[in-house]
Amino acid sequence: MVFYSKKICCIGGGYVGGPTMSVIAKYCPNIEVNVVDINKDRIKSWNSEDLNNLPIYEPGLKEIIGKYRGVNLHFSCDLELKISEADIIFISVNTPTKKKGIGAGQAIDLKWVDKSARQIAKYANGHTIVIEKSTLPVRTAETIKEILEKSPRTKENITSFSILSNPEFLAEGTAIKDLENPDRVLIGGEDKNAIKLLTNIYENWVDKKKILTTDLWSSELSKLIANAFLAQRISSINSISSICEKTGANIKNVTKAVGMDKRIGNKFLNVSPGFGGSCFKKDILNLIYISNHYGLKDVSKFWEQVIKINDWQQNRISHLVVKKLFGTISSKKIAILGFAFKANTNDSRESPAIQICKNLLEEGANIQIYDPKVNINQIAKDLECPQDQNIENQDQNGSWNYSNSLIDATKGADAILILTEWEEFKLINWKEISKNMRFPCWLFDARLITNSAEAKANGINVWCIGQGEI
Ligand code: NAD
Ligand code: UDX
Repeated sequence: MVFYSKKICCIGGGYVGGPTMSVIAKYCPNIEVNVVDINKDRIKSWNSEDLNNLPIYEPGLKEIIGKYRGVNLHFSCDLELKISEADIIFISVNTPTKKKGIGAGQAIDLKWVDKSARQIAKYANGHTIVIEKSTLPVRTAETIKEILEKSPRTKENITSFSILSNPEFLAEGTAIKDLENPDRVLIGGEDKNAIKLLTNIYENWVDKKKILTTDLWSSELSKLIANAFLAQRISSINSISSICEKTGANIKNVTKAVGMDKRIGNKFLNVSPGFGGSCFKKDILNLIYISNHYGLKDVSKFWEQVIKINDWQQNRISHLVVKKLFGTISSKKIAILGFAFKANTNDSRESPAIQICKNLLEEGANIQIYDPKVNINQIAKDLECPQDQNIENQDQNGSWNYSNSLIDATKGADAILILTEWEEFKLINWKEISKNMRFPCWLFDARLITNSAEAKANGINVWCIGQGEI
């Protein structure tokens, strides 16, 4: 029998909990890591023998799962047991925007965090370190503390808690790389022993200098602000893409020139159909909510604009497609290349593809969707309609179909719209693809990634984001 120096339980086996705990298990062989989730299907997928069926696609993840699952990494639905055995518990549950009630549309819905805290209070055994891994509104630790201390318990023995904030900065698609080599690890809290213990865990693979310790509130707020700054950068460059298209400037040259200024930096300046993902929008909405809560109206208006530009960018792309196709796309075939919110993930949460496809369907288009990783059921859920069903829209009917390949999706297409920067789309052979399109036809490259000159040379009309018609 292996003796483990510590036992970790992570509540929530999603995009953060799964990869984060896998990396901890990899670098800490003396720690037993248990990921628990209320979603039975998700746990079943985490335990599936075929590593291609894991619930999350992340480069490098299946290799770690293959090696450490069943050794010191376990996935289960047994919350009671795993919580009661744990010395350290990470809360890594979803924190979406509230849909109804006070703060609807802006505030974070804390119901899953609240429930996790109550489960911990009920089942924990002995002194337990509770760590906020989810992104949370500033001062949530206060709420968690109160729930932990005042909720009913099942154990007879004395239970006590230390609360830490340890937000996660990984980005999807590069999660394993980000976790293995983070820019920083942030730990906020008051209990010095608990901070030391968590620091020691990270020091198994992270350079000491990158581990930053702060008070709880600064740690919670820093995570929100990091996301808000990143999203703001994208809205900034996306707003400039339209100016480039109007003036004849080329966004590639502009970003290069601007990014060479060390104070600005060249990262995160890629023009796009808008930012997606489960984090940016909800975290900025939360920042807006917090600003309003403290009466900082001008601050909230500043951040509102970041979201407005993002929505505007998505809508302007679908409008442009309609305009270029002679003002009507009714019954025209449009191939959508990429549905994930970014490359190298199967996640489509808040993907710009959703709004853009919905707009095109409303205009009556027949859209053919191809994404290397997002599956048909997810797309149907996102578009709120099953495939191949006509959408009743006054006089116009739109429909969508799922394609298993790029060739299939583009066959007979009047237009191709690139929405995700998958490697495969960078390498499209336009000579071959053009043979099967219906002329006159268009390429709309909303990620600026493909060989548009080759498309043009093969008779396709081309529009590129931040460059316009070329
Ligand atoms: P997710 O929806 O993929 O996973 C959350 C999981 O928690 C789900 O599987 C859900 O079933 C489970 N869960 C909810 N309540 C539970 C409970 N009471 N007991 C057990 N399991 C429960 O979410 P995610 O993308 O992993 O995000 C989690 C948190 O991390 C969020 O706060 C998010 O903002 C933050 N975050 C996400 C990312 C990202 O790239 N996705 C990056 C950094 C931070
Ligand atoms: C983000 C943060 O980067 C990460 O630190 C945080 O922990 C979670 O939220 P994620 O949403 O997974 O990560 O991906 P990210 O790479 O930030 O991309 C978010 C969106 O912005 C994507 O839709 C992406 O395509 C878009 N984007 C990103 C751009 O449009 N241009 C860029 O230059 C970079």
